[in-house]
Amino acid sequence: MVKIPWPGPSAPYIRYFQIVHDVLEENIAALVERSGKSRKDIAEGIKAQAAECSAQWFSGDVPAINYQNPLCRLSYLYAVVPATANLIQDIFANDELREHFRKVQKDKGTVSVCAFGGGPGTELLGISKWVETTKPKEPIFLEYLLLDRVNEWLDSWMALKKQIESRFRKFYGKERQSWPLVVSGMFSAVDIKKPASLVNLGPIFDQDIYILSYLVSEIFANFEDLRNFTQQIADNAPKGAKFLFVDRKGPRWKEEITSLAKQAGIKLSAFNDTESYMDPPTEDVKDLGSLLKELGKYPKLTWKAFWVVGTKK
Ligand SMILES: C[S@@+](CC[C@H](N)C(=O)[O-])C[C@H]1O[C@@H](n2cnc3c(N)ncnc32)[C@H](O)[C@@H]1O
Repeated sequence: MVKIPWPGPSAPYIRYFQIVHDVLEENIAALVERSGKSRKDIAEGIKAQAAECSAQWFSGDVPAINYQNPLCRLSYLYAVVPATANLIQDIFANDELREHFRKVQKDKGTVSVCAFGGGPGTELLGISKWVETTKPKEPIFLEYLLLDRVNEWLDSWMALKKQIESRFRKFYGKERQSWPLVVSGMFSAVDIKKPASLVNLGPIFDQDIYILSYLVSEIFANFEDLRNFTQQIADNAPKGAKFLFVDRKGPRWKEEITSLAKQAGIKLSAFNDTESYMDPPTEDVKDLGSLLKELGKYPKLTWKAFWVVGTKK
């Protein structure tokens, strides 16, 4: 086994703002070229989408967010992904998930994670940095499955995965065996409001960890479909599989998660409220460079959320 080189003092090399900056710059340049619009117009479009998303999330109604629009996806990457990835990283550093992850890795040599409504791959970004900060002596092998209703997220999540890999290549060498984390990933368009669409998705029934991050509040209504979907997944999940629910503060989402877990035979641990901010020593919003000025508003740097881990009985 190739030993992972000792990471230098500037590790971890996964830096959310730097990665999001690179992905945005690449995408904005491509949009300018394809659409014939100016960079300023594209920036205005991203700003407008960010404002629209915010209005939708706080409207008190089912959020109607047009993730099919590339400007909307870029606004989400810019405004939300770094903070939520940081939150996911912090959650994985807690005992229950960390120990489960380590045990599965030890027993099977690989860990499989499925993110429902995983959008651009926020969860993968957070897990990658968390794994890197644990300085594993041997690489962790992660099988990552992202399911989302919006097929267009494929571009963002592939761009994030490419950035994670190119950083590991740059700082740990070209041999994957010397990286802290080796990811094999898959994306499939699935609408969890249509449980019938699961019929052809056998592999999703055998995951070690399922994540639903900011999904329950986005489903909003139609909880019955979400309950049926979660039950189908849980019925087929291996005993002991973990379910991580993360969402914005509010009793409504906690109540819904409690009742869907009950129906699905998932035993919930305690709910954890979290109000915190992005890791100051390793995350500097200025890494977003000129985008900070061009997009006019700072991205989210703090969160008010809750999370809870469930175990398949
Ligand atoms: C607020 S975003 C969260 C993205 C990511 N999990 C995160 O935490 O950054 C909500 C995601 O849920 C997806 N989504 C909404 N309704 C869905 C459905 N019925 N089936 C599958 N995905 C859905 C959206 O496309 C979007 O990517």
